[in-house]
Amino acid sequence: MKDILQELEHRREEARLGGGQKRIDSQHAKGKLTARERIDLLLDEDSFEEFDMFKTHRCTDFGMEKSKPRGDGVVTGWGTINGRMVYVFSQDFTVFGGSLSETHAEKICKIMDMAMQNGAPVIGINDSGGARIQEGVASLAGYAEVFQRNIMASGVVPQISVIMGPCAGGAVYSPAMTDFIFMVKDSSYMFVTGPDVVKTVTNEVVTAEELGGASTHTKKSSVADGAFENDVEAMAEVRRLVDFLPLNNREKPPVRPFFDDVARVEESLDTLIPDNPNSPYDMKELIYKLGDEGDFYEIQEDYAKNIITGFMRLEGQTVGVVANQPMVLAGCLDIDSSRKAARFVRFCDAFEIPILTLVDVPGFLPGTSQEYGGVIKHGAKLLFAYGEATVPKVTVITRKAYGGAYDVMASKHLRGDFNYAWPTAEIAVMGAKGATEIIHRADLGDADKIAAHTKDYEDRFANPFVAAERGFIDEVIQPRSTRKRICRAFASLRGKKLQNPWKKHDNIPL
Ligand code: HXC
Repeated sequence: MKDILQELEHRREEARLGGGQKRIDSQHAKGKLTARERIDLLLDEDSFEEFDMFKTHRCTDFGMEKSKPRGDGVVTGWGTINGRMVYVFSQDFTVFGGSLSETHAEKICKIMDMAMQNGAPVIGINDSGGARIQEGVASLAGYAEVFQRNIMASGVVPQISVIMGPCAGGAVYSPAMTDFIFMVKDSSYMFVTGPDVVKTVTNEVVTAEELGGASTHTKKSSVADGAFENDVEAMAEVRRLVDFLPLNNREKPPVRPFFDDVARVEESLDTLIPDNPNSPYDMKELIYKLGDEGDFYEIQEDYAKNIITGFMRLEGQTVGVVANQPMVLAGCLDIDSSRKAARFVRFCDAFEIPILTLVDVPGFLPGTSQEYGGVIKHGAKLLFAYGEATVPKVTVITRKAYGGAYDVMASKHLRGDFNYAWPTAEIAVMGAKGATEIIHRADLGDADKIAAHTKDYEDRFANPFVAAERGFIDEVIQPRSTRKRICRAFASLRGKKLQNPWKKHDNIPL
């Protein structure tokens, strides 16, 4: 009996070594942790339960039968994050470069199936050279099995991908279908084809970092939602994110203890809006002052900075925040910001997370590059996302809400539940100057007349009261009391029930 027990421990030890100490040392030398060390940091201490530790590949080509590392390059199982269950897979670069074989895929599929069945998020730690080249189509089939599950799980359980090494080919498409992708600076890459193929096909000379590093994907392509300094920070931040999310689409997000006064008055907000309507101010200041303990988890911080998206808590409950940022492009909506915010709104709606919208938007960004790029279709994504969302929606207009952008930003007409405005709000078709130049074109040569018309337009429309008279704004509120008002609004909406008409699925303008 003792021998059998020892044999088990021996086999476990072997499996834990993955591709061997030499390769583990090489992983460490690159500043990367191993698959198991990452899981240890991600999950609560001693909470990890492993599946399929002894699974090996079945390939007999290219001498593969001589090397059958236990676990086949991926560590899978479940555990807890602050006591809440998650499923996890962590690719082991020390085993055939973390490449995906048929059996490696089977392991991932098993935990994905269990995650869906039991209603818990899937966290994928990716460190993989893509399809296992020796296995050919069996490996491609394995990828497709994972993809299919990513699609089925979308909107059912949160899916989070962390890219912690080179991810090429198939290794990028599975993350691409998950809800959030995070990368590690300087040690992770994502590309469909690497620099060598790029050079052969297009003659472009580009480094791996330029082609698919964290900076590229968080600032240019928007493929990634955030980037962290190292593996340790990445795991800590994923834990923080999971704390904001529900386990699945049938559960509410967790309610955390909070130590912030719900009725906290923030007098400084009364002077947040500058006297000059064209001067910018930092919308993040408002976000930090509204949320519990000033905590805010920003998504896509480095991309389309003219709109801010992320999670805060009010009375301990998760709220998704979408806010125009007047500091960048005057807060205009454009192609990138519309896409960014639309995806965020849809995530919140899929997982029953209420949405707070903070509005200061002078309209859609004009210009040929926007029109040629399809701003009509991309802007419509955000409009569509807000309009279809059935979660509680509370909107606060702080300053400008002009034109189509007024409609888009969770207006009353898109089933906003509470639409508040600060006294500084200006709700109109456009700014006073532009409006005057169109409707009083005949007076354009007369500066005095134009000034008078502009003043007249401002008096009429540069305020929230015309909209409030129509009931499009429910209440004009004091900036200082915004936290209290929105907390009460969301509290009153906790029992909200709203359903869209039955359909197979919608046809959002993609
Ligand atoms: C089998 C692989 C592998 C792969 C790496 N290895 N990629 N084994 N299949 N795809 C092995 C190496 O042979 C090596 O084994 C070990 O992993 C580490 O690889 P290195 O090259 O030494 O490491 P590094 O220099 O860090 O480079 C990592 C890398 C590179 C950038 C990932 O290995 C690479 O370019 N690999 C190929 C990437 C690729 O083209 N994949 C196929 C994509 S096509 P030893 O024994 O020496 O430790 C694809 C199709 C799916 O994925 C499409 C679905 C839609």
